[in-house]
Amino acid sequence: MRPLRPILLDTDPGIDDAMALAVILADPSAELVAVTTVFGNTDVDQTTRNALALLRVADAGTVPVYRGASSPLNGVFDGGVSHIHGTDGLGDIGLATSLGIARHPQGRESAAEAIVRLAHEHRGKLEIIAIGPFTNLALALRLDPGIASLVKSVTLMGGNALVPGNITPGAEANIFHDPEAAHEVLNASWPLTLVPLDVTMEHTLTRAQHTLIARAPSPLATVIAAVVGPYFTFYEGVYSTERIALHDPLAALLALGNVTPALAPLTSVHVECGHGPARGATICDLRNRFRGFPPQSGATCTVVLEVKDDVADVVTRLLTQTS
Ligand code: BDR
Ligand code: CA
Repeated sequence: MRPLRPILLDTDPGIDDAMALAVILADPSAELVAVTTVFGNTDVDQTTRNALALLRVADAGTVPVYRGASSPLNGVFDGGVSHIHGTDGLGDIGLATSLGIARHPQGRESAAEAIVRLAHEHRGKLEIIAIGPFTNLALALRLDPGIASLVKSVTLMGGNALVPGNITPGAEANIFHDPEAAHEVLNASWPLTLVPLDVTMEHTLTRAQHTLIARAPSPLATVIAAVVGPYFTFYEGVYSTERIALHDPLAALLALGNVTPALAPLTSVHVECGHGPARGATICDLRNRFRGFPPQSGATCTVVLEVKDDVADVVTRLLTQTS
């Protein structure tokens, strides 16, 4: 039997983060060795409670959770996006409270410390999937820059190459919440894949697929189906129809190889850290797209612009599978 692939999920659950967790847990080739939490969709205490709650629902309560950054490297937490994910980050159904998860146990390593340790323990093998602001990864690199050469891959959901932002006209939320951290992470010499809005906004789950997930036998699928209320309301405004974007599960599926890139040039990515209207924008050098993206000097990051698969179908299948 082939050894399981060690996966570390860095996350700010988050409704689509919950879907990403579900697709990772559904992959028999993956071993989720840690979940690290970060502020983002809501504050870090709540994202940590949410991660613990989701893992418990999934009967994966033995996966260790490490609480991470409560604020960006150079700033303060801005309060999150309750209009998208609910005040508690998971659709305000009171999941963590109903499970009696009051607060994260004290005394554990921080997320950054855990990332450093696990990069060493799983030398050459650890696959990091980061689907919140990238503060924990930047802090881990500051603790030990050497981890960049130890990690097998880093897949980031974030940024916008050729399309508008979502949290501002110029920026995507995970980058905008901590551009300085994103800059450090995207400049480290580890194998990077960026999964930006260009591709994630093209893959949406319908109400019909949501109904299938709600009927699935898995308790985690049931919870995911229950928490998506505000998410549908928000995206109804974006798409003028009932569909929800699959940002974080798409990044997870790409990292796991369950979805295949169709257009994914290796390019350079610059994060705008100024304080003007472009703060948090990701400037990807895609000038050579009319020549079929020939190799580019200084290119460090694979930017996924299109995928071959119907991602909503893959997510629905994984969340509704019976075994
Ligand atoms: C990203 O921002 C968050 O709100 C989502 O969970 C996702 O990670 C999309 O821009
Ligand atoms: Ca997220």
